[in-house]
Amino acid sequence: PLAQTGALVTEAAAKRGAVAAFNIITLEHAEAVIAGAEAAHSPVVLQISENAVKFRYGRVLPLARAAVAAAEAAAVPVALHLDHVKRDDLLRQAADAGFSSVMYDGGHLPYDQNLAATRAAADWAHTQGLWIEAELGEVGGKNGQPPLDAHAPGARTDPEEARAFVAESGVDALAVAIGNTHAMTTRTAALDHALLGRLDAALHVPLVLHGSSGVPDDELSAAVAGGMAKINIGTALNIAMTDAIRAYLAAHPEAVDARSYLTVGRQAMVQAVTRLIGVLTTEA
Ligand code: G3H
Ligand code: ZN
Repeated sequence: PLAQTGALVTEAAAKRGAVAAFNIITLEHAEAVIAGAEAAHSPVVLQISENAVKFRYGRVLPLARAAVAAAEAAAVPVALHLDHVKRDDLLRQAADAGFSSVMYDGGHLPYDQNLAATRAAADWAHTQGLWIEAELGEVGGKNGQPPLDAHAPGARTDPEEARAFVAESGVDALAVAIGNTHAMTTRTAALDHALLGRLDAALHVPLVLHGSSGVPDDELSAAVAGGMAKINIGTALNIAMTDAIRAYLAAHPEAVDARSYLTVGRQAMVQAVTRLIGVLTTEA
């Protein structure tokens, strides 16, 4: 059934666990994430990013409506989250499009501008009953930019600043930078667990890990144990899908029916989802 992101994250956080949130680009992604979560008997979040909306000719409704229909038919709770939003008009479509939550992305802005824009987004979101996540301390590697040097001091979230930011913006969850970066195709990120400990102690909202595709299994488990309650995963699914399709087409140069290779691409994503949920739900 269709669920609410806020409820899934709160439930997970109360058990010191995490809910997996997978970025979807196509209907095959949505179907695979749900099938993978069903196999793992676990709730899951489907997230559509502003970049994915851009790929869909700037329109959010076709994929969002398909995702809602898929969620309603699912055997496990599935919530819909609008991810990395900067466009105001897109933010304002969220509730009507079936999302129960949004991530307002001001992580690239200077602190004061990020706070002002995030507070305005949070005020509006709460009038709509939407749960809202924001970002402080930029997680790099967005929009096709090269991954930031995740070890540079500017790419870390300061716990004191984060405490003030959450209090003054009123957001429900915070994405933090602790050595993670987006769009990594190798799983080599080294997280700063001491910093995570300080952030967890300073903040009373759930923490969100972005760029989780680049984080190795043991580091993911440790991040969940350390207080990360929503784990965002995108690139890992695209790697699984693309590798499977590439291998299929190489072995079947005569293939023309899109269903043949989409089937193997989707199946590879199902396996990746089930495996990753297993990692997140196994204690470190
Ligand atoms: O918000 C989305 C995530 O942060 C995904 O990052 O593609 O590096 O796994 P990733
Ligand atoms: Zn992200």
